[in-house]
Amino acid sequence: MELESIKKIYAGYSNVYDVIFKGFFYPRIKHAIQSMGIMPGDMILDVGVGTGLSLPLFPKHCKVVGIDLSAAMLKQAKQKIKKLHLDHIELREMDAMSLHFPDNVFDKVFISHVVSVVPDPYRVMSEVKRVCKKGGRIVVVNHFKSKNKVMAGMEKIFNPVSKRIGWRSDLCLDEFIQKAHLKVDKKYKLKKIDLWHVIFATNNK
Ligand SMILES: C[S@@+](CC[C@H](N)C(=O)[O-])C[C@H]1O[C@@H](n2cnc3c(N)ncnc32)[C@H](O)[C@@H]1O
Repeated sequence: MELESIKKIYAGYSNVYDVIFKGFFYPRIKHAIQSMGIMPGDMILDVGVGTGLSLPLFPKHCKVVGIDLSAAMLKQAKQKIKKLHLDHIELREMDAMSLHFPDNVFDKVFISHVVSVVPDPYRVMSEVKRVCKKGGRIVVVNHFKSKNKVMAGMEKIFNPVSKRIGWRSDLCLDEFIQKAHLKVDKKYKLKKIDLWHVIFATNNK
């Protein structure tokens, strides 16, 4: 998908995103953030922060920067920050494939439901590794192609439709890990039958 199409799609979602997706996404986001081992003073980057479902979960003892391509999604996130007095969080409009940060700034990077939305997930992961400190933690939450042949077949058929509504459904987990050169510490599903994976990796650049 092109960046302009992504912006249009997510502008359309922005007002209803939490109503549609919070029930599906929030439990995994919560689990992942609470398992990140965030330390006092940690600098955290939330890539593709969207409407900021994750934001109330970051402890006040860290500093968070949330970036997103979509001004409309960020507007929703801004409202959460204001309403909940999340003074430790700042937002910036930015393309995850070209992050406007110097190298080695962040202790931890969180990226949920984004790598199957962006045009080039490996460019994003390369940028994530660049801005994250060596030995820092990278946490990815995302849907990947099912290993069940029937499900994978359905996902392949569904892929052209899912791309039109905002994400691809054919991203392969093993290929993603390999091509992103991720040093994975653990990867798991929250429930036995689940469409989404959580990946914890150490930045091994
Ligand atoms: C499915 S939403 C996920 C939002 C949030 N992380 C969550 O888990 O609820 C995908 C988000 O990625 C953003 N996005 C897509 N392409 C992007 C890019 N190239 N750079 C930054 N953000 C991008 C979209 O604007 C959207 O807010």
